[in-house]
Amino acid sequence: MILGFVGGGLMAEAIIKGCLDKQVLSPQEIRVVDPSEDRRMHLSKTFDIQVYEEVADAINHADIIIIATKPQHLEEVSSQLKGIIESNQVVLSILAGIKIDTLTQAFNHEAVIRVMPNTPAQVGMGMSVWTTTNKVSSSIKDATETILESLGEQVYVAQETYLDMATAVSASGPAYVFLFIEAMIDAGVYLGLPRDTAKKLVLQTVQGSCQLALSSAQHPAQLKDAVTSPGGTTAAALLVLEQREFKAAVMQAIIAAYDKSNKLGAR
Ligand SMILES: NC(=O)c1ccc[n+]([C@@H]2O[C@H](COP(=O)([O-])OP(=O)(O)OC[C@H]3O[C@@H](n4cnc5c(N)ncnc54)[C@H](OP(=O)(O)O)[C@@H]3O)[C@@H](O)[C@H]2O)c1
Repeated sequence: MILGFVGGGLMAEAIIKGCLDKQVLSPQEIRVVDPSEDRRMHLSKTFDIQVYEEVADAINHADIIIIATKPQHLEEVSSQLKGIIESNQVVLSILAGIKIDTLTQAFNHEAVIRVMPNTPAQVGMGMSVWTTTNKVSSSIKDATETILESLGEQVYVAQETYLDMATAVSASGPAYVFLFIEAMIDAGVYLGLPRDTAKKLVLQTVQGSCQLALSSAQHPAQLKDAVTSPGGTTAAALLVLEQREFKAAVMQAIIAAYDKSNKLGAR
């Protein structure tokens, strides 16, 4: 299985690292084109993969062509690729907000996979949500599943609208979580904890809470209730969060991300 990456940035590197670490692919099966010499040198040195300046060299013989540039480079990339994609090749896009219809038109190609990954893929804890056109073979779908599993968890959805929703929930999600983490650390420092101690306390608390929620059959609200003693400290904190409409703010933020994703996709 040959993967040809168009764009060798942060997300491409996370996918390459996942595939090599989990031995899903060997370095000989990965090719990357990127305009930046620094990026090419970095990827070649770190992973011992083939890197190119010309797009045709990177996608030549690739089974899957992975479009991993920023969404605003779609026009440039599609004009570079038009006419050189073979009928047996599959285009896989990770471009946020760019819909399958736009991709099939841009590349004049019907076999297209759309994936929405997230940045924890860099440490093998990613969440990727994906869908395909009906022109993608089951063997390529299986390969895609294996590749995405090397980055963490993956969920295939038949309806593309779920992918737009996932963009707002899981692709942008790490930013909301990091903001929450930052706020908890700053509060610890405000109270007088050394910053590194506050950071350790917060990160382990967030990680431990996720593990507990994953391993428990209880609803998150029940897990929250279990921490909250009558008349206690947690109850005092929760009242402030309720007064500041914390839950509504988070929900509205995710809805805003979804609306924005739809607006960007419609352009
Ligand atoms: N980061 C996330 O959280 C996240 C999550 C889900 C999906 N995504 C999607 O993943 C994609 C990549 O994100 P990223 O964070 O990896 O971006 P990035 O680090 O900026 O990587 C994009 C790379 O593509 C290169 N490039 C630009 N034009 C090119 C061309 N015509 N041919 C080949 N390479 C080209 C860029 O080079 P220059 O820098 O020199 O322009 C850059 O090295 C985006 O579309 C984003 O929507 C990202």
